[in-house]
Amino acid sequence: MNPIYLDYNGTTPIHPQIRQMMAESLLSQQKENEFISNCFGNPSSSHVYGVEAKQSLNLARKQTASLIDCQPSEIVFTSGGTESNNMAIQGVVIQAYVNGNHQPHIVTSSFEHPAVENVLRVCKQLYNARVTVLNVDNFGFINLQDLSESLTKDTCLVTIMLANNEIGTVNPQADTCIQYIQHSIQFQQREQNEHQIAHGCVISQWKDTSNN
Ligand SMILES: Cc1ncc(COP(=O)(O)O)c(C=O)c1O
Repeated sequence: MNPIYLDYNGTTPIHPQIRQMMAESLLSQQKENEFISNCFGNPSSSHVYGVEAKQSLNLARKQTASLIDCQPSEIVFTSGGTESNNMAIQGVVIQAYVNGNHQPHIVTSSFEHPAVENVLRVCKQLYNARVTVLNVDNFGFINLQDLSESLTKDTCLVTIMLANNEIGTVNPQADTCIQYIQHSIQFQQREQNEHQIAHGCVISQWKDTSNN
C-alpha cells in the first residue's frame, strides 16, 4: 500500500516547472559553449563562470519580486525558514538597539515555531530585549485587543505566525493584523518620539490573501 503524505505544512513536492528550471540552470546553461557546462560559479566573482551564475540569480530575483510586487533588491535568498527568521528578527532588533532603543520590545505568540522562539531567546541575551508572549485561543488565533495592549513605545517588532506548522491554522486576520500593527506602532512613534524606534512586522510564511 502506498503511504499517503499529509505533511504539506512541513514541505511540498517541487512544482514540475520549477524543477525543470533548476535542472536547466544547473546542467545545461550554455549549450553552445562546451567549456561551461553547468552554472556553478561564485556569483560574486568577475570571471565568466561567476557572471553566468549572477545572471541566473538576477533573473530569479526579478521573477520572485514580480510575484510579490516588490523591488528585486529587496529579495534575499536564504537556505530556509530558520535562517530567514534569524535574519529578519535579529535585523530589526539590532537596528532598534543601534538607534538607541536599549531595551527593544518584541511581541510574539505562544504558538510560534522553535525557529522563532530560539532567536527571541538570543535577542534577550544579546540585545537586552523584552519579549511579550500573547496567548492564542483554541483555534490558534491571537486576540487583537491583547495585541493592542501589549504595544509600547519600545516595541520594535511584532512576529506572529501566519500558517501553523502543526495544526494548520491559517490566520485569516493576517491583513487586518498587519495594518493594525503598522498603524499602532506609527501612532506610538508620533506620540512618544523619545527613541528613534526601528519597527518591523514579520509575519512568518507571509502570503497575499487579499484576493481570496
Ligand atoms: C513555521 C515554521 N517556521 C520555521 C521552520 C524552519 O524551517 P527550516 O527547516 O527551513 O529552517 C519551519 C519548518 O518546518 C516551520 O514550519
